[in-house]
Parts: sequence; C-alpha cells; structure tokens
Amino acid sequence: MHSSPFCYLIIVSMEKIAIEELTRIVLNCRKCPLGESRLHPVLGKGSLQAKIMIVGEGPGATEDQTGVAFTGPAGKLLDKILASVNISKDDLYFTNIVKCFPPENRTPRLSEQEACLDYLRMQFLLIHPKMMILLGSVAAKKIIDPKFSVMSDHGKIFEKKGVIMIPTFHPAALLRDETKKPAAWEDWKIIRKTIDEKKIL
Ligand code: SF4
Ligand code: URA
Repeated sequence: MHSSPFCYLIIVSMEKIAIEELTRIVLNCRKCPLGESRLHPVLGKGSLQAKIMIVGEGPGATEDQTGVAFTGPAGKLLDKILASVNISKDDLYFTNIVKCFPPENRTPRLSEQEACLDYLRMQFLLIHPKMMILLGSVAAKKIIDPKFSVMSDHGKIFEKKGVIMIPTFHPAALLRDETKKPAAWEDWKIIRKTIDEKKIL
C-alpha cells in the first residue's frame, strides 16, 4: 500500500511512537473513577500492523496486576480458541472498552465506557483494522448498537465504515457457562470463514 519500504518504515515507527505516547497518557489518566482504584492501566497488546482488532470489556484482576491485556484465565482460553481456528497472534491487536480494572470485576458503567472511548478511537485510527472481533455484550453494545444482544446476535456479520465486525461470547462467559461453548465455536468458524472470504489476512 505504501509507496516505498522507507516510507513504510517511517509510518511504522510513527505508529510505535504514537502508541507509546498513548500508553503514557493512559498511565496518568483519571478521567473516570476506575483510574483511582486500578493497579495498572491496560492499553492493549499486539501488532500495530494487525488487520484484526479484538475488543473485550475491560482488564480483569490478573491484567490489573500484570498491566498486560488478556493474560488471565479468559485470555488463556482466548489463546486456545485462536490457535484452534489458526489465527496467528501476529495478525492481531487486543484491547478493551475500558483500560482500567473495574473493582470486584463489575461491568464498567456507561459513564466509564464513555470516558475511555477516545483511547479506543485513537487505537482504531493508528491500527486501522479491516476486522473487529467483539467479545461480549459490553463491546458489541458500545461499538455496534446499544440494543445489541449477545444471545440473539452473536456470530452475525456487521459492517461499519468499511470495517467488518463480528460479535461473539466473551471467553470469561464461556468459563462461567460451558453450555455456551458450542455456539461460540460456530461463531469462530464464521469468523475464520469471513477472514478467508474477505481476504482479511
Ligand atoms: Fe482513564 Fe479509561 Fe482508566 Fe477511566 S478507565 S481512568 S477513562 S484510562
Ligand atoms: N477480559 C477482558 O475483557 N479483557 C482482558 O484484557 C482480560 C479479560
């Protein structure tokens, strides 16, 4: 897409600088009350050249400790799911709707999600993914439609501003309720098929 390898390198290093700057900003962010109680903010992880962005809800207790997205039990299950559909981590960037751990693992409030959304917008502009995989209802409601329901709308393919979006169950929900696993597996097969058909990777 970029005209020369040199130009490409400049863009890549600018993206890196921009993400580092964003990391610094989030480290000092107190735009919502979660900034007071969190241990470590969790901006995101993965390739800045990723074609696919995975968006979860918010850091869990493990991520609050490590400062790295998807390092706890839900992240470990997500790793297994990704391997089973042959999606390499090199093609992914992982982040969440809110960047700080909500105490007692509660659902982030709408006001907290709204306060944090500019960071996701910046990540989106830097990474410009072709596809977004939305994990759970918080991400799908915020990004697709406030009326979204995971139970009835999971595995459907949405398109917004030329970006393909597929919502599915959050891996934490699969850990809480194993009966959702077969339906989630169908979603991931749809995700894999869409990646191939639309030549995302
Ligand atoms: Fe800032 Fe987002 Fe953390 Fe709230 S959750 S303090 S808006 S980084
Ligand atoms: N759950 C999420 O939604 N995001 C993480 O980073 C970890 C667990």
